Amino acid sequence: MRTVICPGSFDPVTRGHIDIIKRAAKTFEKVIVAVFVNKAKIPCFTIEERIHFLEKALEGIENVEIVACEGLLADYARERHATAVVKGLRAMSDFEYEFQMALTNKMLNPELETLFFSSSAENMYVSSSIVKSVASFGGNIRDFVPECIHDEIRDRLCGGGVD
Ligand code: PNS
Repeated sequence: MRTVICPGSFDPVTRGHIDIIKRAAKTFEKVIVAVFVNKAKIPCFTIEERIHFLEKALEGIENVEIVACEGLLADYARERHATAVVKGLRAMSDFEYEFQMALTNKMLNPELETLFFSSSAENMYVSSSIVKSVASFGGNIRDFVPECIHDEIRDRLCGGGVD
């Protein structure tokens, strides 16, 4: 069985993340969505909240499993017998950072490939940071996050009141 991992902070999950995960789920037999505690970033949402949003947005997709992770992605992939990491690429600006991570993971686990799915055109500019930034000014984040979790994310980020 071909198992792949979609790792990330998902702080919070965006439409762009969901698009990549759904496409990975159509391409591979099993997708593990690994929500990492990234020590370099102070998250806005707790790990439980981030997992809750992912569970709601991915409800009904049988071959997707959502897990909380700590430690190295390369080790977790080995433990789960995952053959590849799947990540979305929005623009060339993503590439340097992603390429560095891909090479590091390959060095730590030579069996592990990194595959990049190109972002859908409508999600090219969408990121978790953009969601938080727009919401912090009371802006409309409806186009950036899945509809089923929009109200929860908006209420949490700006206390509600903005459509
Ligand atoms: O959504 P993000 O914050 O860009 O995701 C980054 C993430 C979580 C994929 C990356 O930080 C990661 O793989 N963390 C696990 C720790 C690790 O393996 N670090 C070494 C590889 S760079």
